[in-house]
Order: sequence, then structure tokens, then C-alpha cells
Amino acid sequence: MEIAEIKAVIEQEKEAARAEADGVRDRTALQLFKSVRMGKKSVLSSLYPQLKSVPEERKKEFGREISGLKEYLENLFQEAFQRIHEQELRRKMEEKKVDITLPGYGIELGSLHPYQAVVREVTDFFLGLGFEVADGPEVETDENNFERMNIPKDHPARDMQDSFQIAEGIVLRSHTSSVQSRVMKENCPHPVKVICPGKVYRRDNDATHSHQFGQIEGLVLSPDATFANLLSLLTKLLRHLFGEKREVRFRPSYFPFTEPSIEADISCFECGGKGCAFCKQTGWIEILGAGMVHPNVLRINGYDDKVMQGFAFGLGIDRVAMLKYGIDDIKKLYEDDVDFLAQFRKE
Ligand code: DAH
Repeated sequence: MEIAEIKAVIEQEKEAARAEADGVRDRTALQLFKSVRMGKKSVLSSLYPQLKSVPEERKKEFGREISGLKEYLENLFQEAFQRIHEQELRRKMEEKKVDITLPGYGIELGSLHPYQAVVREVTDFFLGLGFEVADGPEVETDENNFERMNIPKDHPARDMQDSFQIAEGIVLRSHTSSVQSRVMKENCPHPVKVICPGKVYRRDNDATHSHQFGQIEGLVLSPDATFANLLSLLTKLLRHLFGEKREVRFRPSYFPFTEPSIEADISCFECGGKGCAFCKQTGWIEILGAGMVHPNVLRINGYDDKVMQGFAFGLGIDRVAMLKYGIDDIKKLYEDDVDFLAQFRKE
């Protein structure tokens, strides 16, 4: 082919390609453009073999013409690609357009678990009276759980709290009283005013007992802490939790770590004290255990029982939640059933 002829072919190809590129509207057409204009059977590819037959001194010029065409076609391809890409973006944005005038979806608020609501309410009450919150492990030594609470190895009181032994001398704590000895060890010989909310474990299982439940322990040590202080504090606590109109009654009881020991009852809020199925016809509902810290407990934990005295109490969190909210099965507190929990939502 003569150079003039080749130049004419190239010009023609440029024109045809430009017209085709302008008409490209989508990716399929773009691919087609690429294979027709730049593929093996394209005019561009057919020009390279011609190089061989061109005289040496004109090869450069001829080569430049072919490269020019190649560059031209590549630019056309890029332009078309850019145009399609922008169109696609615009379409997507159009589709995803947000109408900011539409009303939003409401965010559903969760609710405090009734167990946690009781913990917070009791904790708030005691923080207001200057108590501190103490903490201890659920995996506890036999020593802290029993021995230091005046419950030696062969003491029958151990039967009251059938515990889970997980290694020699290590138990899942059966009551939060185990935190008492930790607090005493840490503070001896100084006064103490703490509550300890936490989980405890026992070999128990029925509608009102679970192998895991919660307790809040209280411990006050002070040379002038009296039994009268204990009674007035518990009366205030129970009225705070169950209503100012509740009658509070104290009965003598037995705990190895207190002497004297008491249990507190509140007047039944179902029948007001007359007697009903809820209070088993007694008019009273048993609510917590307490007492003056036993001198042995003071001594075992390093205090001088001639100088220091005090009182302690233990309250079942689940029991309070069940009574307060009318829950008939303790297991409901541990099932994470959203329908059940939603009933405690405060609107
Ligand atoms: N630890 C007792 C229990 O689990 C509850 C208790 C009773 C705790 C009397 C006390 C107390 O601190 O003084 O049954």
C-alpha cells in the first residue's frame, strides 16, 4: 500500500470509530467497540503486517501513523468509558435518593431487667446513706465462704447452703456473706459500711429457687453501731422498696455469723395483712436475714470484739424482684425472653 493510501484508510477508520464511539451507551456496546476497533480483526491490527513491505526510509513515518491511530482509538474508548461510568453513578444516586421529609423509623428502647432494677434501687438507697459498694469473686475459697463466717467444716449450718465445690477448698460462693471476710481483712481495724450485690450459687431448683440467684449483702462495723440502728435501717429499706405503708416485722432467727439473728417480714401487699394465698394465710412475707455480727466472726477476721461491733444483713435480689413485680417463676429472670422483659419498659 502506498503511504497516501494508508493515510486515507487511517482517516476513514478514525471517522468511523468516532461515530461508533459517540453512539456507545452501555458497557456491552463499549466492549463491542473495543473488539471491533482494537481487536485482532480490526483495521488497526491489519496495518501492522504492512510495515514489512514498506521501504526502510519510510518505516518510521508509517509506524507513527499507525501509533497515532492506536492512540486515537484508545482515547475514544476512555472517553466513552468515562461517560458510561458517570451515567451509571448518576442513575444509582437517583435511585437511592433519600426523601428527608418522610417520617423516620422509631428506635425501640430496651428496658432495665427487673433484677438490675432492684440492684440499682437498693444500691441508690445505700449510696445515699454513705455506704460503699464492695465486690468479691463468685469462685470463692471455702475459707471465705464458710470458715471465716463462723461455719467450720462439720457445722450443720453448711447443709442450709448445699454448695458447688469445684476443687479442694474452692466453691461457687453460696452467699454474698463471703465478701464480708474480704472487706474485713482489707479494712481491719477500721470501721466499715458496705453493701455487696452479686450472684451466688446453690444446689436448688424449683419455682422460687434457682441454682444461680442474686443477693445484696450489707455490713456495718463501728464501735457504736447498734441493734436499734439495724432495725431502723431495715425498716427504711423495706418501706423504700415496697411502699411507705408496709408494716415491718422482725422475728428471732439463726445464722452462724450473727448473734442475735433476725429475719424481717413485710405485711402482705396482696391482702394488706389479713391473710391470703400469696402470704400463705399469715399476712406476712419473709424478706431478709440479718443480725449483729457474731464476736467469732469479728475475731476470726482480725477485729477486737471488745472494741468493734456491728450488724449485717442479706437480701435476695430475685425474691425482691418477684415480689415487687409479681413474677411467679424465678426462671423467667434468666430466660432473656424479650416479650417478658418488655413488660417492664417504662414508656
Ligand atoms: N447469708 C445468708 C443467706 O444466704 C443471708 C444473711 C443472713 C446474710 C443474715 C447476713 C445476715 O449478712 O446477717 O441465707
